[in-house]
Amino acid sequence: MKILEIRNLNKVYGKGETRVDALKNISFDIEQGEFVAIVGPSGSGKSTLLHILGGVDSPTSGVVNIAGTDIGKLDEGKLAIFRRRHIGLIYQFYNLIPILNVEENMTLPLLLDGKKANKELLNDLVKKLGLEKRLKHLPNQLSGGQQQRVSIGRALMNNPALLLADEPTGNLDSENSREIISLLRKFNRENNQTVIIITHDERIALSADRVITIEDGRITKDSKTAEVSAV
Ligand SMILES: Nc1ncnc2c1ncn2[C@@H]1O[C@H](COP(=O)(O)OP(=O)(O)O)[C@@H](O)[C@H]1O
Ligand SMILES: [Mg+2]
Repeated sequence: MKILEIRNLNKVYGKGETRVDALKNISFDIEQGEFVAIVGPSGSGKSTLLHILGGVDSPTSGVVNIAGTDIGKLDEGKLAIFRRRHIGLIYQFYNLIPILNVEENMTLPLLLDGKKANKELLNDLVKKLGLEKRLKHLPNQLSGGQQQRVSIGRALMNNPALLLADEPTGNLDSENSREIISLLRKFNRENNQTVIIITHDERIALSADRVITIEDGRITKDSKTAEVSAV
């Protein structure tokens, strides 16, 4: 099943002298359960693309279809709900709420959705992420690797079909990076969750099923990687 269908995406920032064509006619499909790396030079449009796929930014033109829904046709309220139910976002700098503890940070999206946290899922995630002893800690009482695991937990609390990560290991040492990637891979394999990850790390890219290269707002390469063991 196709989880994502992208057609003729264009994104223009600014106008006149400050106009930037950040994405130029981007089209591709992603199958459910794929683990895809997006690579490319700084400023090539990777984050812009990921934000549009996640419904947190809108394209200037083009179509983003997620699991059969053309998200460009949703009004703001419906889009927010769709996002919370189907998409998990992970950022380089974690974006945790400093005054909320680990458990509260993880369950916040559910509360915003008017739902109660499923304790079983919470406990299961907390265990898989190795955060059992940190539930009442605040973000600034955690290491970078732990904070990123909390943000993964937050992204997964809704069991999203699509997990989008913008340089999730960009701020971590190599051991923590490996751990974060193998966690994402584990969720990808166990739950068939689709993962799209922007990375500068060649080893991470090579461990993905597929690598999409973006240069100057265009896809210049899109290739399946050979079967190799995960990082
Ligand atoms: N909010 C914005 N306003 C104007 N230009 C932007 C904005 N966000 C990104 N850009 C420009 O769009 C291009 C792509 O940016 P980005 O998607 O962040 O690239 P990457 O993530 O690959 O480094 C860059 O030239 C950047 O300067
Ligand atoms: Mg970026």
